[in-house]
Amino acid sequence: MHPDRHERGVPLRDAAARLEEAVGLAHAIALDIVAAEILSVGQPRPATLFGSGQVERLHELVEEQEVEIVIVDAQLTPVQQRNLEKKLDCKVIDRTGLILEIFGERARTREGQLQVELAALSYQRSRLVRSWTHLERQRGGAGFMGGPGERQIELDRRQIDERIVRLKKDLEQVSRTRGLHRGARQRVPYPVVALVGYTNAGKSTLFNRLTNAEVRAEDLLFATLDPTMRRLVLPSGQQVILSDTVGFVSDLPTQLVAAFRATLEEVLEADLVLHVRDVAHADTEAQKADVETVLADLGLAVEPDDEATPLQVLNKIDLLEPEAREVLLAQTARQPNSVAVSAATGAGIDRLLETVEQRLARNERVVDLEVDLADGAELAWLYRHGRVVERSDEGQRARLRVSFDSRNLARYQRRLDEAPEAGKSP
Ligand code: GTP
Repeated sequence: MHPDRHERGVPLRDAAARLEEAVGLAHAIALDIVAAEILSVGQPRPATLFGSGQVERLHELVEEQEVEIVIVDAQLTPVQQRNLEKKLDCKVIDRTGLILEIFGERARTREGQLQVELAALSYQRSRLVRSWTHLERQRGGAGFMGGPGERQIELDRRQIDERIVRLKKDLEQVSRTRGLHRGARQRVPYPVVALVGYTNAGKSTLFNRLTNAEVRAEDLLFATLDPTMRRLVLPSGQQVILSDTVGFVSDLPTQLVAAFRATLEEVLEADLVLHVRDVAHADTEAQKADVETVLADLGLAVEPDDEATPLQVLNKIDLLEPEAREVLLAQTARQPNSVAVSAATGAGIDRLLETVEQRLARNERVVDLEVDLADGAELAWLYRHGRVVERSDEGQRARLRVSFDSRNLARYQRRLDEAPEAGKSP
């Protein structure tokens, strides 16, 4: 249900688009949606949000369709949630609850998981309703709250408080050791490219298209990486790691901001960020602004003329009218910082890959060096970690011009420091 309200006379985003988004989010946690509708709320009722006639009609629908859960795409007060659960005789969750479920599924870093659990507990504490438990059971216990759902109901406020205290301690511990994890990531020998974007923009579709997700990387390094990180081989043969992230949503409830940021932490360490956008969406500009606000808050550059600004991937061009598509293609051909694609059909993907390569090359540094031809290990290392742009062999020596990205340049320099005779610049 999406209550359509107008605040201070300013219409909120297109209600139909908001409803569609909420349906998409519910799909994301594998719920079957039997009905979705916009309910007009003139005067929000403190007890139930909706008017009594609306509640009655909803109840009929719930009975008729044997609905197990009603999602209200708004913030419900604990009282409203409880009253609606009673009157509708089924579970009710609001937007915060829905988003928490999604974050719970998607949080990957330990910090992300702890932040989400903390947010969930604070939410649960103010309500003590059974909604969480319900979702967990429906999905066969896949929810992040862990343990059999029934146990959760028994958690009273005091227990929740104790758990919150423990979680906060764990979080402190995690942020103290975070530097160590970062070190582990930096040992990954390839540049990292991160996908960000509004929910439903097509990140996962693009991720799969780019990496042929059905092909499992045999490389052990990649097998140990998270499933949302995969190797991508660029046209030149350069390897990068592509990382998918949780989608952005508008009006993120404030108590979820910390959890959401924690899930985005890896974006800060990426060598290049791709901002995937649904250009066929009515709210595409508002979505862009939302995403950029969060990225800017995280400390990422978003100014168009900034070197480090994300590359805009204008997705779903197959859904545009032919003329609009032509205009967009002509525009983006002139802009170095945006590429029009269709993740669904594959249109524009070649140009995207080339552009990614060019953007990464901006961070590259070229080094001239000489290596003993007998030193096969050193040569292999250089070919594996750098891009050899020129080579001429003379006698026992190979003269190489190698381009390194920033990560590998640092590794190369460390290597030189550790073994000064390994490969000297002439
Ligand atoms: P979240 O996981 O919610 O962040 O979404 P996402 O950004 O990963 O989007 P996803 O890849 O799941 O795609 C959302 C919907 O858009 C799916 O139904 C896709 O099939 C569809 N879609 C993605 N790319 C395209 C495209 O280029 N053209 C069309 N027509 N549909 C697309």
